[in-house]
Amino acid sequence: MSTTVTLTGAGGQIGYALLFRIAAGDLFGPEERVRLRLLEIPAGIGAAEGAALELQDGAFGLLEHVEVTDDPAVGFDGADHALLVGARPRGPGMERGDLLAANGSIFGPQGRAIAANAAPGVRVTVVGNPANTNALIAAAAADGVPATRFSALTRLDENRARAQLAAALDAPVAEVDGVTIWGNHSATQFPDVAHATVAGRPALDALAERVGDVTAWLDGSFIPRVAKRGAEIIQVRGSSSVASAANATLDHVRDWTLGTGERRTSAAVVSHGEYGVPAGLISSFPVRAVDGAWQIVEGQEPSPWARERIDRSVAELVEERDAVRALGLI
Ligand SMILES: NC(=O)c1ccc[n+]([C@@H]2O[C@H](COP(=O)([O-])OP(=O)(O)OC[C@H]3O[C@@H](n4cnc5c(N)ncnc54)[C@H](O)[C@@H]3O)[C@@H](O)[C@H]2O)c1
Repeated sequence: MSTTVTLTGAGGQIGYALLFRIAAGDLFGPEERVRLRLLEIPAGIGAAEGAALELQDGAFGLLEHVEVTDDPAVGFDGADHALLVGARPRGPGMERGDLLAANGSIFGPQGRAIAANAAPGVRVTVVGNPANTNALIAAAAADGVPATRFSALTRLDENRARAQLAAALDAPVAEVDGVTIWGNHSATQFPDVAHATVAGRPALDALAERVGDVTAWLDGSFIPRVAKRGAEIIQVRGSSSVASAANATLDHVRDWTLGTGERRTSAAVVSHGEYGVPAGLISSFPVRAVDGAWQIVEGQEPSPWARERIDRSVAELVEERDAVRALGLI
């Protein structure tokens, strides 16, 4: 048996960081063989073809086949997983409406090509920004594919939040559990530690001992650090997060496929009205993955303070949805 993975934007930075780890078995483990389909636009085909040559030179035992194409029908043919990484970045002078329209013209056709060509059980992970709304557009275009098979990546935000919490408490990151990202993968996101634990102990108790006024620390330090971490990486590194984004993508897809057990994680998935998030939006929630499906974890009722922050990010998602609706993209 082998799994077919389609990667869009395969000639880009995150694509390059993802491909070799997928081929090495970091996605489905050391037993599962993989077929890769690399979808690019003509300008990116050379870079994707170069990566394919290097994949060949890696002599990866698990890698069965690599196909490079700029035709979405070929790219998504038989895909069990579609990782939608390729997107249109915001250019100089581009307004949000222009960005949404440019990406709509990518994710709408890709949604249609997925519905027409992918394997019946395809699972779609959207990484390209604005990720939540791109996922919404692709899901709306993918006639016959349930919206629950689309999710957008907020795992990088969760990993960042876990790492910041671990650093603040001087604890190993492996002992930090139950951090939730709510809302949009943007600066309005709400990283929530109310149900997090550190070595099994409530994180809020450990934080109270360490930082005193926990709410002031969350508002003044933790939340902005996590929400603006992408900008910090750009400032320090000179370009955006790549390897950490690829790593989070693998975490997300691996959990979705292999399951989380009792562990909670975060993913942007379609709302059915949970936690008051309008039905149909693709918003980040606390989730578990069971039998290949995301399940929103119930019972993490937010405090009024948290509610206000969740509502702010969800309001941004509503605005994005209304904008793409006005453009006729959904
Ligand atoms: N969700 C997250 O946590 C997260 C984190 C980091 C980056 N991102 C986003 O991931 C995306 C990719 O980042 P990157 O650093 O790899 O960018 P990049 O510019 O290096 O690569 C993007 C690639 O996508 C390709 N592409 C563009 N349109 C395409 C289409 N229609 N079909 C197929 N390929 C197409 C481009 O040719 C390019 O090779 C960006 O939108 C970035 O904002 C998301």
